[in-house]
Amino acid sequence: MLFSYLLGSISFAVLVGKLFLKDDVRKYGSHNAGMTNVLRTAGKKAAVLTAVGDLGKGMLSVVVGRLVFAHILHVEPMYGAYLAAYCAILGHIFPIYFHFKGGKGVLTSAGAAVLIDPVSVAITALIFAAVTFTSKIVSLGSVVMAICYPVVTYFVSLAFGRDPVPLTVCAVIFAAIIIFMHRSNIGRLIRGEELGFGKKKKREP
Ligand code: G3P
Repeated sequence: MLFSYLLGSISFAVLVGKLFLKDDVRKYGSHNAGMTNVLRTAGKKAAVLTAVGDLGKGMLSVVVGRLVFAHILHVEPMYGAYLAAYCAILGHIFPIYFHFKGGKGVLTSAGAAVLIDPVSVAITALIFAAVTFTSKIVSLGSVVMAICYPVVTYFVSLAFGRDPVPLTVCAVIFAAIIIFMHRSNIGRLIRGEELGFGKKKKREP
């Protein structure tokens, strides 16, 4: 849990932002330490680097969680995967190295979830892409994806003959974290003030 939290705390948005902007990305755009805000303020190359880092730390935390539960604790590895994922997301949102001001957990969750349930993630990723590219608003895609993810997980579990309840409950936790972290985005979406990825806007810290 500690390893995953410390790993999740590595804020690639802040590090890549420092490299490309020579400043803290949290001073600009939406003030979020996430890939979308890096794309908005520092460009595509910086956004790709941030995405790889954020997805990668979610994936690595699940790999380690599974290994520890399977080979050291001798417990069902799936529990280790989820526990590690939640701790990495916690680190991403409240990074110990960056004054506890991180991102919203979308890519870290996606990196973790893709190793846990790739089919559900692939389907929700398509939903995310469709909403995001038609609206040009990443937060709308993220929120719709988070709402759909538990529903998709439920039906995919049934289709594969698995008990849908534990996986769906775990998916609801991922979704609840992401929706809660997007509460200010949801407010801006309702007011029609949300920033799209085509628009550059700098705000004072
Ligand atoms: O993953 C975060 C994204 O959904 C919204 O980012 O910067 O527009 O708040 P931002």
